[in-house]
Amino acid sequence: MNHKRIIVAIIPLTLMSVTLSASPINTLLGDYAKTSDKPFSAERGQQLWTQEFPHTKSGTLRSCSVCHTNELTRKGKHQRTQKIIDPLAPSVKPSRLSDVKKVKKWLKRNCKWTLGRECTPQEKGDLLTFIQSK
Ligand code: HEC
Repeated sequence: MNHKRIIVAIIPLTLMSVTLSASPINTLLGDYAKTSDKPFSAERGQQLWTQEFPHTKSGTLRSCSVCHTNELTRKGKHQRTQKIIDPLAPSVKPSRLSDVKKVKKWLKRNCKWTLGRECTPQEKGDLLTFIQSK
């Protein structure tokens, strides 16, 4: 048995798994994937992002984009408080999607506000994959 060859094959694999598990958001996506039937898609995430949901109480249409806009690299504005929201795109603001606790908290809150219910793991995975691609 040639030990050198085996070691050469193992090192890249080990490095790969370290890089993957090092990103907390990928761990979260892995969790959501366990209870989703389709692989996550940025395209489906974008569709959900722009989809408008009627809010009967206020008689308005709600979507993720009313506060964050459709241009994730730009600043958004809170529809109600008018407060400026920093861009969601990690390419512009690297701290985005780095704090799993924050991501879970806001997904829960924003899905309830926008869709009138919590998002399914499939929807959360699609949305995060879309945001991640920006
Ligand atoms: C009513 C306004 C509003 C709507 C609508 C809204 N958001 Fe947000 N969102 C916020 C605010 C405010 C924050 C927290 C402030 C910040 O992080 O800059 C936030 C933060 C987030 C974060 C945390 C990002 C991070 O890692 O820092 C994610 C993810 C997110 N929103 C996704 C969504 C998705 C997906 C939708 C649609 C289902 C949505 N938002 C709809 C206002 C909104």
